[in-house]
Amino acid sequence: MFGDITTNPYHLETIIRSDLTKALRSLVPELLEEAQLAIHNHLKIPDSKDSVTITVFPTIVHLDSQVTNRAMIGAPGCRNEKFLKKQVSVAEEVIPMSQVLNWFPAFLRPAVWKLFCVTVGAKDGAVRLVIPYIQSRIDHAQQDNPSTITDLLLRYAPPEDLKEVAKLAARVVHLNMAAIHTSGIFTTHALFELARMAPEQVEEIRTEILAAIDSEGGVCNKAAVGKFYKLDSLLKEIGRFHSLFSVGSSRVTLREAVIADGTVLPEGSVVAFAPKPLHHNPQVYHDPHTFDPFRFSKLRTGDNAVRDIQQSFTNLSNDYIVFGLGKHGCPGRFFAALKIKVILSELLLNYDVAFPKGASHSPKPFAFNIFTVPNPTAKLVFTKRK
Ligand code: HEM
Repeated sequence: MFGDITTNPYHLETIIRSDLTKALRSLVPELLEEAQLAIHNHLKIPDSKDSVTITVFPTIVHLDSQVTNRAMIGAPGCRNEKFLKKQVSVAEEVIPMSQVLNWFPAFLRPAVWKLFCVTVGAKDGAVRLVIPYIQSRIDHAQQDNPSTITDLLLRYAPPEDLKEVAKLAARVVHLNMAAIHTSGIFTTHALFELARMAPEQVEEIRTEILAAIDSEGGVCNKAAVGKFYKLDSLLKEIGRFHSLFSVGSSRVTLREAVIADGTVLPEGSVVAFAPKPLHHNPQVYHDPHTFDPFRFSKLRTGDNAVRDIQQSFTNLSNDYIVFGLGKHGCPGRFFAALKIKVILSELLLNYDVAFPKGASHSPKPFAFNIFTVPNPTAKLVFTKRK
C-alpha cells in the first residue's frame, strides 16, 4: 500500500526509536504551544457562554493531528486544515480497505489500491498537500539542526528519495497514520474516564501536574511531564482496561517452534497475542475487572527506580502489550505518551469535563474487525475553569 516503506523501513529503527526519542526534550515547548493553539481553536467558547459541548473522538483526533504534525513537519504545515483532514481520512480508509483488498487475488491488489487512491482515496491527496512543506525543509537544509521528524528523515534518506519528494511525503503520511488515531483513542478514553471519575480524584491529578511544573521553576518541560505519575497511571490503566484490538503483534514463525504447553508451530505459522486475557489476569492484576486510575501510581514507591519504571505507561512487558512486544514493540511510544500528557494536562488545567445532562456516562465503544475504539459520536461539555 505504501511502496518501499515496508521493504526499506529506514524511518523506523534510527529515526523513530532512537533519534526522535532523544529529541523529545527539545520538542516539548513546541508540542505545548501547538496543543494550546489547537485546544483554543477546537474548544472555542462563545462570549455569551462559559462552556462548549463537543463530539470528543473526531475533535480530539483532529487536534492530535495538528500537534503530531508540529513534530512531524513543523509550522505552518501542521496548521494546514486541508492536509490534516486528508491525513486523518487516510487512516480511516486504509484499515477497511485492507479488508476489501483481501477479497481480490493477490496479483490484483496493487492495481485495486492504486485505482482507489486516484479516484476516491485520501492518501494521494495527503501526500500531494504535504510535499511543499517537505520541499521547504530540504531547501532550508534543516538537517544540521533538526527540529522535526522530517529533518531526521532527510538525514537518513537514500539520495534517490531526496530527488523524489513524493517518496518522503508518503513516509510522513505513513508515520502519521501510526501516530494520530492511536493517540487520539487514548486521549478520548482519558477524557471519558475523567468525566466519570470522582472530582477529588481529578483534583489529585491536577495537583500533581501543578506540583511537577512548579518543581521545574514553573515550566512544563520534559522533566515536569515525567512527574505526572497519576496521569501516566490513568493512561496505563486505559490501555489495560480498554483493549484497542482483540489480537495484535502478529508474527510469522521463521522456523518450527515449540511453545510452553508443547504445541508445535510449523515454519510459516502466523501467531498473534490476545491482550484481554493477559490484561485481566488475576495473578498479575488485583481485582482486574475494576477500573482503577491510580492502580500503577500506587505501586511506585520512589525507592526502587527499576520497579517504578515497570509501572510506567511505556514499559513493555509480557503482561502489558498495549505497545506490542520485543523488537517490533511500538517505537513511537515515548513520543505518544509525551504528546498525550501535554494535551491532557493543558485540558485538565483549563477545563472541567462532564457528560451532557441526560447522556450516557458509558458511551458504547465502536467495534469493527479486530479493533474497538471510543464511541465516535459521544459528547462532553468543557467548562472553562476560573
Ligand atoms: C498511544 C499511542 C500508540 C499505540 C497504542 C501504539 C501501538 C502500537 C502497536 C501495538 C504496535 C505493534 C507492535 C508489535 O507488533 O509488537 C505499534 C507499532 C508501531 N508504531 Fe505505534 N502506537 C502508538 C503511537 C505511535 C506513534 C506516535 C508513532 C510514531 C511517531 C508510532 C509508530 C509506530 C511504528 C512505526 C510501528 C511499527 C514498528 C515495527 O514494525 O517495528 N506509534 N504501535
